[in-house]
Amino acid sequence: MISIRNVSKSYENAESAAVRDLSFDVPTGEVVVLIGPSGCGKSTTMRMVNRLVEPDAGTITIDGQDVREYRPEQLRRRIGYAIQGVGLFPHWTVAQNVAVVPGLLGWERDRIAERTTELLDLVGLEPDAYGGKYPHELSGGEAQRVGVARALAADPPVLLMDEPFGAVDPLTRDRLHVEFLAIQDRLKKTVLFVTHDMDEAVALGDRIVVMRDGMLVQQDTPERVLAYPADEFVASFVGTERALKRLSLAPVTEALAPVGLAEGCQCSVSATASLREALARILELGVPAIGVHDERHRLIGAVSVESIVERFKRPLT
Ligand SMILES: Nc1ncnc2c1ncn2[C@@H]1O[C@H](COP(=O)(O)OP(=O)(O)OP(=O)(O)O)[C@@H](O)[C@H]1O
Ligand SMILES: [Mg+2]
Repeated sequence: MISIRNVSKSYENAESAAVRDLSFDVPTGEVVVLIGPSGCGKSTTMRMVNRLVEPDAGTITIDGQDVREYRPEQLRRRIGYAIQGVGLFPHWTVAQNVAVVPGLLGWERDRIAERTTELLDLVGLEPDAYGGKYPHELSGGEAQRVGVARALAADPPVLLMDEPFGAVDPLTRDRLHVEFLAIQDRLKKTVLFVTHDMDEAVALGDRIVVMRDGMLVQQDTPERVLAYPADEFVASFVGTERALKRLSLAPVTEALAPVGLAEGCQCSVSATASLREALARILELGVPAIGVHDERHRLIGAVSVESIVERFKRPLT
């Protein structure tokens, strides 16, 4: 677990502090997304975890040990870092870029080569085709995958990801999200992830920490940040699509009504569909309700506009 306690940082000559009295945890195996407007102190916070920046006050521990007590090579082994704007070395091949940390740690050649192949596979880049390319020969999305592979190279339990998918188009970004979640499902890293995109935060975070002017404004699950923004600032950050986002997070089974409601409607959605998908089908078909079927295509209930609205009157747990 990463624990950040009462951490503050002012850069020299700065008018105000970059980070002020910040405290939060990243529990082991979870993804915590740090979100907030440009300049609010997200990267500074992240860089204090791997000691690229030293805090003026407060403590940061990883698994109970103060990061100041770690030796630099220990920190490198424990923490993978994917940086804003990718940061690949332009004159090195993809394989060489991925191998940086294992190289610094003095791994054997063969082991590094094996690991590089494994990682390129993992992030969906054909190792034979991509290993020898240079960064300028990659698309933005491919470069970002290399950045993620590099961060994972030494199999660190902790990952710091500073807008790792910032420079790609929305479609590629969605694909990278799916891959990231699949990888995280397998590897269960402890991840501190920075973004200023609420969609990304909701898609990837187990918890979201909202920052403004170096301070924490709200920390909560994605569902609760969407449903109960702490103040006007968070609400505006969450945006007007808030209700839709809430719907896309909730499975259709959350608003299940008796199956009779969908009588006469020939259509149904799978029990794994989201309420947003169900609502879209209802509106598209112009029916009052739609059936919900299980994996064996048996009807297990129905959802209607009313059952969805009812569901959202109750607080989310
Ligand atoms: N090395 C530095 N020296 C002086 N000031 C800095 C330095 N790095 C960041 N700052 C300032 O500290 C504040 C926080 O910067 P930080 O990079 O942490 O923001 P951020 O939330 O990551 O922003 P962005 O979303 O644009 O990446 C900003 O006002 C920035 O100008
Ligand atoms: Mg930043």
